[in-house]
Amino acid sequence: MKIAILPGDGIGTEIMAEAVKVLQALDLKFEMESALVGGAAYDAHGHPLPEGTLALAKAADAILFGAVGDWKYDKLERQFRPEQAILGLRKHLGLFANFRPAICYEQLTQASSLKPELVAGLDILIIRELTGDIYFGQPRGRRIAVDGHFPGADEAFDTMRYSKPEIERIAHVAFQAARRRGKKVTSVDKANVLETFQFWKDVVTEVHAQYPDVQLEHMYVDNAAMQLVKAPKSFDVVVTGNMFGDILSDEAAMLTGSIGMLPSASLDKNNKGLYEPSHGSAPDIAGKGVANPLATILSAAMMLRFSLNQPQAADRIESAVKAVLSAGLRTGDIWSEGTRKVGTREMGDAVVAAITGKTITKS
Ligand code: IPM
Ligand code: MG
Repeated sequence: MKIAILPGDGIGTEIMAEAVKVLQALDLKFEMESALVGGAAYDAHGHPLPEGTLALAKAADAILFGAVGDWKYDKLERQFRPEQAILGLRKHLGLFANFRPAICYEQLTQASSLKPELVAGLDILIIRELTGDIYFGQPRGRRIAVDGHFPGADEAFDTMRYSKPEIERIAHVAFQAARRRGKKVTSVDKANVLETFQFWKDVVTEVHAQYPDVQLEHMYVDNAAMQLVKAPKSFDVVVTGNMFGDILSDEAAMLTGSIGMLPSASLDKNNKGLYEPSHGSAPDIAGKGVANPLATILSAAMMLRFSLNQPQAADRIESAVKAVLSAGLRTGDIWSEGTRKVGTREMGDAVVAAITGKTITKS
């Protein structure tokens, strides 16, 4: 088994170092090979997703990804910006199914901006379609308007589009995931305005006929944004398109107290996947040793479970993370009165200690 390690930019390198340490502590037989991606790759090779990095990602059995992006690349032409690396990997590897769980750890209920009773025990799974929609739809670009409100003016445009098979396959993923959990799927659309999402709703409804044991509900995206902060526990699995999924998954992540805790998986049709924390590269705290490595460590656990067929190793990581939280260790993003503030490395060391059976001192 081979794991491609792509740390990326900003806090990516620091958090990845901790995840690699945790993987090594498991004493399993796999090879890890790392490569540059994002701004770091642009600086070294002139492209955010160099040939060599893409080849490594294709050859590996799974990919562990840190984060990409930094303000200093904002002025580059779009094709050279760090974000193109993650978009390119998704596209070239056919990673169409994005799993973004939003779980509120019992120990962190206080860290949420919502009242504890609204989020205690929260466990939602957002399934975001990842290779279609307005993100990848062609045509797109800039031109002189020939019609609209201002004919003759400069304009920009993107294309929102979904084909039936694209919707069908993500709907199957969502219904199957719901079967393994609360047996309810909320399909989020904007069918009241957009042709693309009326079609989305129709196709999801059609696929649902094969899953009579799963409850299907449809919700407009604006209402979903509202319900997520009003009654988040009313959701089980949420399935939606690329753009709405981008927005709602950040919202859902924050309900849990910290985006610094949440892993994610992006899978192809054979369950090969790319695993990454739900948060970004946080250039403002990069290099300070304060970033929370737990989302990346938990992403490594997801990788062991979904792509590498090592569920017990995944359990060991997840239990270790819970033990560390119970012992009162917190990085700044999840810190609250009465807990002990630790840095990135200390948090990683504590997880390793919990895995290898050493005791953690209570705060
Ligand atoms: C995400 C990110 C990316 C996206 C960016 C970095 C391109 O926000 O993974 O949610 O929009 O998909
Ligand atoms: Mg996003």
